[in-house]
Amino acid sequence: MTVQSFKRFTLVLLGSAALAAPSFAPMAQDHDHSAHSGEAEQVTVTEAEAEASRTLFSQYGCGSCHVMADANGYGSIGPAFDGNDALSVDHVNHVISEGQGAMPSFGGMVSDEEIETLSRYIVAKKAG
Ligand code: HEC
Repeated sequence: MTVQSFKRFTLVLLGSAALAAPSFAPMAQDHDHSAHSGEAEQVTVTEAEAEASRTLFSQYGCGSCHVMADANGYGSIGPAFDGNDALSVDHVNHVISEGQGAMPSFGGMVSDEEIETLSRYIVAKKAG
């Protein structure tokens, strides 16, 4: 790459970082972004939360499309949760609420609170 194009590239990068910063900031208040730093997110759930989440997991058929042994899920239509390093609480929460590709949205069927608990449960109890 020429010096000229490298400079332009750097400017574009700086420009987009400046644009992204203000819109990103408000989210930082209630979301944990530690998972994006590349380290495994440390998440715990109580046994009662885990039980409630296992019930939701089977009730909403998550296990017919996703592998997660702790929740008795062995479906292979979607990505497995066991051994899946891409799962942060934020990401799981977002996909359940909004859907993603062939994944149906469960927002409106399940309360935000239940989705939050289910998301923490998946990240805390998935194998690997
Ligand atoms: C009908 C099958 C189906 C059901 C039921 C289903 N999912 Fe999914 N899910 C998918 C598919 C397919 C994807 C991949 C979507 C994509 O990225 O295109 C996915 C993606 C996901 C992801 C993102 C995984 C990743 O590696 O990024 C999460 C988290 C998730 N689903 C959670 C759930 C939960 C929790 C439930 C139950 C409330 C559920 N899914 C029910 C099919 C399903």
